[in-house]
Amino acid sequence: MRTPIIAGNWKLFKKSGEAVDLVSQLIPLVQNTNGVEIIIAPVFTVLPTVKPLIANSNIMLAAQNCFWEEEGAFTGEISPGMLMDAGCTHVIIGHSERRQYFGETDDKVNRKIKAAITSGLTVLFCIGETLDEREANNTFNVLRTQIEQGISGLTKDELAKVVIAYEPVWAIGTGKTATDDQAQEAHAFIRGAFANLYDHNAAESIRILYGGSVKPENVKGLMSQPDIDGALVGGASLKADSFAAIVNYRI
Ligand code: PGA
Repeated sequence: MRTPIIAGNWKLFKKSGEAVDLVSQLIPLVQNTNGVEIIIAPVFTVLPTVKPLIANSNIMLAAQNCFWEEEGAFTGEISPGMLMDAGCTHVIIGHSERRQYFGETDDKVNRKIKAAITSGLTVLFCIGETLDEREANNTFNVLRTQIEQGISGLTKDELAKVVIAYEPVWAIGTGKTATDDQAQEAHAFIRGAFANLYDHNAAESIRILYGGSVKPENVKGLMSQPDIDGALVGGASLKADSFAAIVNYRI
């Protein structure tokens, strides 16, 4: 049994006052939700603001990125241990926006994933193909490479601290969602890749979230697919009612 995860990626939105408003509205809307792990990922600066608000709730805290060193002369970076210190349980690593705009390579993603797991964080590891790659029939090759390099060197025990987020780049922030069948096809491929790299049990245990224009209107269809175990939600996580409707997709 894989417990579903609905995670909200706030990206570069919400200063502290707005974050307090959003979280205060969200808590009552999801407080009776069972059987779904709920995660929000605000910007770094509001993590300590949000943490006490969700302390007695069923909402967990993630950061959107981290560095691979624990401390040192690395101006501007934030380490996994610092995220733990700020109350995070999770961290998003390898988001396509970081790959696209901030030079994040599979090797850097791999270092970050290892460091985050060593510190005790659970990683939301993002993978996904661009439109060009999909149209060139390269989707599976791209996903295989991102997986193999991203988790290179991880033991099976360490893999238990990894959640995959499959986010086709062409579906992020565009309003274009992958169809249920397209998403399921990719998710089944990803699960198969873990069976090859580890074993059947590891593949059956790993949770694979879908991301890319997930909304209250399309979440049910996606979540009814056998290999889709949750959603990483961007735009629709910025409003309490739409994020809560996604969290409560069963109702
Ligand atoms: P979106 O973003 O839901 O706005 O498409 C998803 C993501 O980038 O994680």
